[in-house]
Amino acid sequence: MEKLSDELIARLVSSALAARGKAYAPYSRFAVGAAVLAASGEIYCGANVENASYPAGICAERNAIFHAVAMGERRLYAIALCGGKEGEKLGACFPCGICRQVMREFCDPGQFLVVVATSPTDWTVHTLARLLPDSFGPESLG
Ligand code: THU
Repeated sequence: MEKLSDELIARLVSSALAARGKAYAPYSRFAVGAAVLAASGEIYCGANVENASYPAGICAERNAIFHAVAMGERRLYAIALCGGKEGEKLGACFPCGICRQVMREFCDPGQFLVVVATSPTDWTVHTLARLLPDSFGPESLG
């Protein structure tokens, strides 16, 4: 994969911001949106969906990734996410540990980009290898 253009990253960020508007977070009031870029070039979105039985809820990143995989994608290039308390200014929301591990399944961690966005024009970019060093993945099983 070649380097992602700023224009493509901006598209991912705006998709994540739009997805955040669909979050179902009545318990935490912490709304998260995510958008994943798959090898086909398609972008898949997700938002966090909570549940009255708290552990049954799921993060935005996993919803976006599982959406992509359920549509037949097996290789992912990047994910953008944004999160924060409803009605408040967005701060940098980094992915939780479980979501980092789920990303690991479908990418090259040295290449996969995690884009943490706080507005349509403000974001930071991190490799998964930095966020999840010395990771366990499909090849680890031999
Ligand atoms: N959440 C995400 O969707 N992604 C993250 O990376 C961190 C946390 C959600 C889960 C829960 O619905 C709410 O944010 C508060 O933890």
